[in-house]
Amino acid sequence: MPQPDNTWFRDAKFGLFMHFGLYSLPAGEWKGTKMGRNAYAEWIRYQWGYPQPGGIPKAEYDTLIPQFNPKRFNADLIIKEAASAGMKYLVVTTKHHDGFAMWHSRVSKYSVDSTPSHRDIIAELTAACRKYGLKVGFYYSHWLDWEYPGGGLPPWPELKNDPELQQPTDEAYEKYWTEKCLPQVQELIENFSPDLFWFDSWGKKAHTQITPARLSRLIKLIRDKSPKTLINGRIGTNEGVDFLSTDDNAFPEKLIETPWETSGTMNHSWGYNKFDHAWRSTREMLRNLVNNASRNGNFQLNIGPRGDGSLEPAVLRRLRDLGAWTSVNADALFGSRPVPVPEPKWGRFTQKGNTIYAHVYDWPADLKLQVPKLPLEITSARVLETDEELTIESIGDGFTLTLPKVMPDDRITVVTLSAR
Ligand code: GLC
Repeated sequence: MPQPDNTWFRDAKFGLFMHFGLYSLPAGEWKGTKMGRNAYAEWIRYQWGYPQPGGIPKAEYDTLIPQFNPKRFNADLIIKEAASAGMKYLVVTTKHHDGFAMWHSRVSKYSVDSTPSHRDIIAELTAACRKYGLKVGFYYSHWLDWEYPGGGLPPWPELKNDPELQQPTDEAYEKYWTEKCLPQVQELIENFSPDLFWFDSWGKKAHTQITPARLSRLIKLIRDKSPKTLINGRIGTNEGVDFLSTDDNAFPEKLIETPWETSGTMNHSWGYNKFDHAWRSTREMLRNLVNNASRNGNFQLNIGPRGDGSLEPAVLRRLRDLGAWTSVNADALFGSRPVPVPEPKWGRFTQKGNTIYAHVYDWPADLKLQVPKLPLEITSARVLETDEELTIESIGDGFTLTLPKVMPDDRITVVTLSAR
């Protein structure tokens, strides 16, 4: 099957991931009991016997539907923040494992249509993305679905004796696949014309229901109805997809030729968890972003709006800090490609045409930066942020740059190396 052009994805480098749904309301706590173990808030319904064996009964979980009224959710403001942060695309949970659709689905009543405000969150976000020039990507939980009888249930071995959590028969699963999964994917294409689908699965052993035949049907549907739409590897195969997705928060340490991305969190949980204060620093996230870009990958950074739709100050501050760096250093990041040389200890390289960008993480004490032999003949060097010209001394295979005394940006300072 012909595959779409993925150049925009390779150029993008930075995307916004968003987990928003019914689970954003309880935010990691059910009837006074906090989630334990791996407290991913979007998993609150089924978490290793929490808050009782069998998880939260569906009828109880569904009491969240009349409470879901995100008065402070402002798609325009969120996407504007994302655009200022330098993000080029959005991937939003259209349906997470709980099975609840965040758009007006004709296929299933289990959707925002049944909430008091009837707001179509996906329509609002899509409109905002088109306005600010971001590509539109949809997370769709194809494998697990805890609403439709027959949808995949949590695969954890600890749960396999729980009578409430027996995996569906193949026949029941097939019904889910043909009556909910495929029609909803088609509906998302028809309603919103997404640029990308992000499907979620992990480990072939877990998702036995995702057979090659089912995968081909899903992929064919998307290719037939929407030839431009990119598909990620976590659909359950790396064959015939448009980019690879790593495990959560996994950052490969070498260049990978096939386009790829890491989905990462600012703290721990994907959905809003009010107890989660394990925030990462902007420095760490920036270095993840540049590491990935220098190795041919993207960074898709998650936010989990609160149940009322608002963003935490910790999220906003990080988005703005990231944007302060990406706006100054945009030339060195967006549209760049890796440089096929060994990575220096002090940082990373990216390249665009006749320019190589040295992303300096560690400022040498003697202010002498040793640059290895590069594929271009470099004739000038300037600090990107300040435009200060640096002296180049040629030595054998590479050259030495004399850096200013104070590191202009102590997270990453970019030096632009130009060839004639
Ligand atoms: C995992 C989790 C899920 C989350 C996803 C993000 O697969 O099941 O809750 O959406 O990772 O990458």
